[in-house]
Amino acid sequence: MRYILLITFFLNTIFIANAQTFDYSSSSETPPVLKSVAPFPIGAAVGIKHMRNNPRYRNLVKEQFNSITAENVMKFKAVHPSEHVFKFDNADEIIAFAEENNMRVHGHTLLWAMSNPAWVRSYQGDKTAWKNLLKTHIQTVVKHFKGKVRSWDVVNEAFTDGGGLKKSIWLQKIGPEYIELAFRYAHEADPDALLFYNDYGQEYVGKKMYAILNMIKDFKKRGVPIHGLGMQMHIPVRLSDAKIQQAMKVAAGSGLLIHLSELEISVKHQMPKPFMMNEQLSRQQAEKYKTVFRAYSSIPKKQQFGITTWNVGDADSYRNSKGRNHDHPMMFDTQYRPKPAFKAVIDALKQP
Ligand code: G3I
Repeated sequence: MRYILLITFFLNTIFIANAQTFDYSSSSETPPVLKSVAPFPIGAAVGIKHMRNNPRYRNLVKEQFNSITAENVMKFKAVHPSEHVFKFDNADEIIAFAEENNMRVHGHTLLWAMSNPAWVRSYQGDKTAWKNLLKTHIQTVVKHFKGKVRSWDVVNEAFTDGGGLKKSIWLQKIGPEYIELAFRYAHEADPDALLFYNDYGQEYVGKKMYAILNMIKDFKKRGVPIHGLGMQMHIPVRLSDAKIQQAMKVAAGSGLLIHLSELEISVKHQMPKPFMMNEQLSRQQAEKYKTVFRAYSSIPKKQQFGITTWNVGDADSYRNSKGRNHDHPMMFDTQYRPKPAFKAVIDALKQP
């Protein structure tokens, strides 16, 4: 088994190095620029360490994208590490980069149970105290970035796949109302910011998506400020085109801005082990990227908030972090060269 794994690793490495890029230098085309070809903003979620230490990464972000999301440094844990301490230096660095390069900043995320700092998890107080804690957090952060962050994922991943609310300390201490309170607090702090609910798995158009759409309907009826729906789109290459097209249509039915907020297309997910990358999968991935961009282009223009990929190249994808290795989910390879997926996206965007 160990030998099979070693051989697989070796072959994967060769494949990554040689076969998976689209070589513009050997074609007559000049490498196109995503943000120039797309009629809507094209974003990347960026890691602060890569931005600081990897000039190739930083240059590619600058060259190809016109919207930016901080992968981690605006999360609760990062900006509010203890009750009376807010820490914005890392996030401010991303904002400065965006300002220098004329990029839109999408804020991620004011509230996500998975990014609660330890002090919140052990906080003691009655319901009013918890509401105050939530309000102070949201309003301090939103006010700090007022005029700089155009839009926020106000609440992230609050629903289960079955359409219920996920167990969380917010649900436990405040009740289901915590979601609408988060939106109201954010709106009070910056009435010009666009407010999104963000979640994964909506592309399966199942109970989760309908529960989210019902919440949106209810918010609109009761005047709770919400402007956009974030569909994360961490999808496997095997997801059918029909599902992707249906998901876009159903999402657009909400009437809100639609943000494909964390797109990447895994080729490894649900594949037999040991996994081996190959040309056919690379082509399938390129086609799937094309489907996503075409389907998104078909929703009404005024609802197209943009498409953001979660990370930049295969080497920095969160799917390849910590022991999850050898996936190839991005449009750029480990050396930040364009892959067939990039070429497919450019073709999709150029189609009338
Ligand atoms: O910053 C510390 C570092 O100092 C330390 O040495 C290292 C040790 O493991 O941990 C570092 O923190 C990690 C952080 O990423 C930065 O690399 C955390 O442990 C790790 O949990 C964190 O993971 C992030 C995860 O969200 C949880 O916040 C991923 O990078 C990030 O890609 C992922 O992003 C989420 C979206 O926010 C929401 N949707 C799903 C998406 C993918 O899971």
